Amino acid sequence: MINVIPKPVDAICSDDNLTIAAGCAIFADAEFVFARDFLIQKLSAAMAKPPVTANASKAYILLQKVGGYADEEYSLTAKDGKVCIKASSEKGILWGVQTFRQLLGCDAACGADSLTMPCVTIADKPRFNWRGMMLDCSRHFFDKSTIKRMLDMMSVFKMNVFHWHLTDDQGWRIEIKKYPLLTEIGSKRSKSGINGWKRTDHDNTPHEGFYSQQDIKEIVSYADKLGIMIVPEIDMPAHFAAAFAAYPWLACREIKTEVPWYFGGAYPLSIGRKDWNRSACVGKETTFKFIYDVIDEVSELFPAPYFHIGGDEVPTEEWVKCPHCQKAIKDNNLKGEKELHSFFINKVNEYVKSKGKRLIGWNEVLHGKILDRSVVVQYWTPQKDSNVKTHIASGGDVILSKHQSFYFDMCYAQYPLKNTYSFEPKKLGISADGESRVLGVEGELWTEFIADVDKLDVNTYPRMQAAAEVGWTNKEGRDFDDFLQRWEYNKKLLDAMGILYAEDAVSMPKGLVKRAKDVKMWFDIDQQFEVLRTKQLRKAHGKD
Ligand code: ACM
Ligand code: ZN
Repeated sequence: MINVIPKPVDAICSDDNLTIAAGCAIFADAEFVFARDFLIQKLSAAMAKPPVTANASKAYILLQKVGGYADEEYSLTAKDGKVCIKASSEKGILWGVQTFRQLLGCDAACGADSLTMPCVTIADKPRFNWRGMMLDCSRHFFDKSTIKRMLDMMSVFKMNVFHWHLTDDQGWRIEIKKYPLLTEIGSKRSKSGINGWKRTDHDNTPHEGFYSQQDIKEIVSYADKLGIMIVPEIDMPAHFAAAFAAYPWLACREIKTEVPWYFGGAYPLSIGRKDWNRSACVGKETTFKFIYDVIDEVSELFPAPYFHIGGDEVPTEEWVKCPHCQKAIKDNNLKGEKELHSFFINKVNEYVKSKGKRLIGWNEVLHGKILDRSVVVQYWTPQKDSNVKTHIASGGDVILSKHQSFYFDMCYAQYPLKNTYSFEPKKLGISADGESRVLGVEGELWTEFIADVDKLDVNTYPRMQAAAEVGWTNKEGRDFDDFLQRWEYNKKLLDAMGILYAEDAVSMPKGLVKRAKDVKMWFDIDQQFEVLRTKQLRKAHGKD
């Protein structure tokens, strides 16, 4: 067995070992110098002497360009004292290097004279093209170093899409030069809701932050080098309260509001406020002008051929009463507000298409049943949505982020690690034929109650590793117990990198009654207990 996550498609392992000595020679073909330098950096940190570059005949580690491999495919052979990694693309070679890095365990080493790994022959390529992680930076802002840290981890496990949730009710986090108030006003709130979904309490600490356009360029470039495409999400027409605080004319009713500090309806409903959840007015051309202007600037910053516009959880109460929205329904022969929702998505889709990009929306965008099939639908709802099946059957593409498997903000008591690991499209009723329309899978880290890096880590790891394997390795190649053994080895690497992860007793909780109590605690009292338990268990295991 080799301790690599995600599990390679094909790996033949012998009983022999191979030793890499400190200061050994590396060769890379010209196209692969970035991957070479990346590897040199990792080996230099792990070993007593940095590696040196050499020509192919003198090198012990070779990164070679060959023809005929698919985009992310690579092979790795370690035998006769040499490690040879081959690929046709930079991404393929990088994934080969990441496999090598895990095999050597170099992240857990420091000043080593040599490192030993098993002799192997690996042929490897992914099952799905889209292996994503979403981070919600609206509910809580995370600084650039935290984003880069997550990108580093994604790349180790060959995840290739970072879906960046940049705007929502509780904060607008991306600089838009044409609309400065989006960040001057929309990126700041007076305090934050705490303790969980059923609570009305709050801290007393102002929360703010946004990424300048320069920051975004820096992160996009950083991710690109790690084999990761960044897809921005500007959530609309709902989840738009931070924009309303800056520009009240974006809503049907122009009322002065602040960036909300509360998450969900518990607090506003407790004070009798019913209109806390609103959508942008989609009957006014000024709204579209604003949205197109934002798309113009955001598209320039992100070269990815995708643009996520959310489109989820859209309340329509104001549309019912708004003369502009009602006129739009009438003028476009729409059958009510549900169709107005899809009409809005279709209209923005046309604009996004004009930028050479594909629009992505959460699966509620299908409710109006008139959605253009070019829209990529991201299936998240815990409830079954038969519209997704229809979308697939009509040739539409999907990304699978089903709540029960991929909502990493939820507690492990409710969704244990195996929920993620055992995910298969078939479980959603997607046939083998329909699977060709599945771009891939994505883990979602919403951060309403994730305010710090420790909770971010515990909720994410080892779910990210499980999701990475679901995205990379086909069903026949996967086995949960086998994954756990490889994870046991990988824990040492995360420990050395200073990345916290849920201990097994947390990520695989036992006892239905205890789990039910914990889920209730998570909703009603406080969400911190799995982090606290993880820290206690680490202490008990002598890890801190
Ligand atoms: C979502 O969780 N509203 C996409
Ligand atoms: Zn309106």
